[in-house]
Amino acid sequence: MVRCETRDERSKSAIPDHHEPSRPRFARRRAAAVGAWLLAAASCGAAVLVASEARALDNGLARTPPMGWNSWNKFGCSGLNETVVKQMADAMVNSGLKGAGYQYVNLDDCWQSSRTSAGVIVADASKFPSGIQALADYVHAEGLKLGVYTDAGTATCQGRPGSYGHEAQDVATYASWGVDYVKVDWCNTAGEDPATEYGRFTTAFQEVAAAGKPMVFSICDWGDAAPWQWGPTTGNSWRTTGDIADAWSSMIGNAVSSSQHPLAAAPGAWNDPDMLEVGNGGMTPTEYQTHVSLWALMSAPLIAGNDLRSMSPQTKSLLTNPEVLAVDQDAAGRQGYKVHDWGNGIEVWAKPLKTPGQRAVVMLNRSSVASPNYVLLPDLGLVDPANEMVVRDLWARTNLGTFVFDYEQTVPAHGAVMLLVAPGTIGSDQGMPPGHLEIGIADSRPIVNLRLTVDFRVNGQPHHDWEDIAALDRTYELALNGMGGTWNGSEWVGNFLSTTGTVAGQGAILVNDVDSRAITDVRWTVRFTIAGQPYGDFEDVGDFVGDEALTLTGEGATWNGSEWVGNLLRPSLL
Ligand code: GLA
Repeated sequence: MVRCETRDERSKSAIPDHHEPSRPRFARRRAAAVGAWLLAAASCGAAVLVASEARALDNGLARTPPMGWNSWNKFGCSGLNETVVKQMADAMVNSGLKGAGYQYVNLDDCWQSSRTSAGVIVADASKFPSGIQALADYVHAEGLKLGVYTDAGTATCQGRPGSYGHEAQDVATYASWGVDYVKVDWCNTAGEDPATEYGRFTTAFQEVAAAGKPMVFSICDWGDAAPWQWGPTTGNSWRTTGDIADAWSSMIGNAVSSSQHPLAAAPGAWNDPDMLEVGNGGMTPTEYQTHVSLWALMSAPLIAGNDLRSMSPQTKSLLTNPEVLAVDQDAAGRQGYKVHDWGNGIEVWAKPLKTPGQRAVVMLNRSSVASPNYVLLPDLGLVDPANEMVVRDLWARTNLGTFVFDYEQTVPAHGAVMLLVAPGTIGSDQGMPPGHLEIGIADSRPIVNLRLTVDFRVNGQPHHDWEDIAALDRTYELALNGMGGTWNGSEWVGNFLSTTGTVAGQGAILVNDVDSRAITDVRWTVRFTIAGQPYGDFEDVGDFVGDEALTLTGEGATWNGSEWVGNLLRPSLL
């Protein structure tokens, strides 16, 4: 058995302490192209990855992420009334937001007050004296759509009547009023299973859709019950996080959490890191630009949360930049993710666009000092005969030129540069940025003492490393890199697999390819413990390129005399 170095022995990241990433030294090309959805596999059966299109709730809506406005972030409970909502609809039209693609005008909590003796939900007459149907008519007359809010529990988060036991009745009522979008919150649910309870709404939405009134279904369980696993078949979007606050730490935390499940997103089904805070005053313009950049790169719903009647020109331009919005609304519906981590908060995120060979790229600086950042052509899964890429700055809306192998730019503290990148000449699209593996956990029992071992080849040379994870009670983010190893006579060993971060509250493992060369012949091996018993399995997944998803479970195993074995690590949709 090869000994892995201890964490202390391991070399640190490529970025020296003064925040300057060392210049990339490698200009080698990725090996043979691999279809994005089919990976050659060996002993554990073919790891066939299935395109995610078919998973969405099939109501034909939200084929691109919904764009609109919601009352909560700015007006909360007390500031919500029909005058404000009408004025916001007017402002959506007059400010140019409608022209930019925003269409949903959404009431959040506190529009409802009671139920009739027949159980029909009643709007708060002090806030909505004309009723919701009249408001829907008003909004529709402006070419916009109306959204309402409810809660899957007995009461909303603000104590208004919830929909529990009235799911179908409420959805039918909203449909009769002409409502186009429904957000369903998760307060006061007293132990209900979210997938089951939200599934009751799905049935109700399917019924009204069959009768001619489809509505967008926005799930809001705050990411608590892994909605990226059941959300795509249940609703059109699902919150991945707790509530956003108008502050950098909250915004970037929500972005990182929501970026953990890129494979769940598809036309009609979106991870939702919560509504926008742009223009509410708690972040700098630079931070708000990062906010919109990351939401667009992640194909997140863009639901503005500011006062549209009094936007500064800067806020308006952040919300309406057509080239940035085009990234969010790209018809391929892929969610971008981190493709290179230079350390110290200097990251590159990328999103494959519908046009073959095109990538949207965010050069992110999460740190509090300005720093150079580098985009490497191979990190984007692009190949070009001359190693060239053409680069356009999407916020500035200017072409930056043609660059060989890498593009360098200094990014301000908490800033994001957003680019459109394509091969410079006749380059070819490798289908996806290089490897990104998501291992989801499908066992309800605690999985502890996990050792994740990786064997792979770079330039035909065998590499080997492992990472120990004490308890799979959160998401572990790992990086895979074949550089910096030492030859032990039979293979390269070193700190190839390393933990780069964790996200609380989610059991999953993410592995990002941070090597600019082709990583091939990958075998993932797991050894873990459930209830004191040892389990083991492995999966061969071929080349580490594009999105891959595996599921880890201890269920269905058989005892072989020394450990539980079976198809415990296997390909999955998510
Ligand atoms: C929860 C939701 C928020 C908002 C409030 C309203 O906190 O997550 O988005 O809807 O309830 O009470």
